[in-house]
Amino acid sequence: MKALVIYESMFGNTRKIAEQIAAGLAGSSTVVLVRVHDADPQGIGLADLVVVGAPTHVHGMSMPATRAAAAAMSNDPQRHLALESGALGVGVREWLDTAPPGSGLFAAFDTRRDMARILTGAASASIGKTLARRGLRQVARRSSFLVDENEAIKAGELERARAWGEQIGRLATAALTTAP
Ligand SMILES: Cc1cc2nc3c(=O)[nH]c(=O)nc-3n(C[C@H](O)[C@H](O)[C@H](O)COP(=O)(O)O)c2cc1C
Repeated sequence: MKALVIYESMFGNTRKIAEQIAAGLAGSSTVVLVRVHDADPQGIGLADLVVVGAPTHVHGMSMPATRAAAAAMSNDPQRHLALESGALGVGVREWLDTAPPGSGLFAAFDTRRDMARILTGAASASIGKTLARRGLRQVARRSSFLVDENEAIKAGELERARAWGEQIGRLATAALTTAP
C-alpha cells in the first residue's frame, strides 16, 4: 500500500505527530511524508491512503492571518517558539482548495489545546469534510493530538500518534483487500 502523509506546522508540533504517524504506517505501507508547502496537490490521486494533518487555528484550519499571528508569537522571546521553515507558505486549507478529486482512502488529524472540543475546535473536522467532498473515503475516525497552554505536546501523545498510524495502516489494508 502507498501512503502519503501531508502536514502543516508552525512550531513543529504537527510535524512531530506526523513523523510518528508515518513511522506507525511504515509497518504496513510505503510511506511518503511531506510538508504541505512542498506537496503537489495531484499527489492526492497517487496514493492508496492520504493522511492529512494541521494545527488547529481559530477552531479550524489555518489562514494567512493566523499563520502571521503564529509568526508574531515566535518573535516573542518569552515563548521559546521557533517557526518551522516554510511555515508561512501554503497551508492545508489552500492545498485542499487546489487538490483534484480522488477515489482513495483518507484519514485526518490535527493538533490542538487540551480542553473541551467545543472550546477548541479541531482542524481535522474541516480537513475530513473537504477530503470527503473530493470523493475520498474515510478509513478511520479523525484524531486530535493535544498540546498544553505553552504549545508543548502533552506526554503520551507521540506514542498515541504512532499507534494511530499503525491502526490506520491496518484499517486501510483491510479496506483495500475487501474493496470490490
Ligand atoms: C494563531 C493561532 C490560533 C490558534 N487557535 C487555536 C484554537 O482555536 N484551538 C486550539 O485548540 N488551539 C489553537 N491554537 C494552538 C495550536 O493548535 C497548537 O499550538 C498546535 O499544536 C500548533 O501546532 P504546530 O506547532 O504544528 O503549528 C492556536 C495557535 C495559533 C498560533
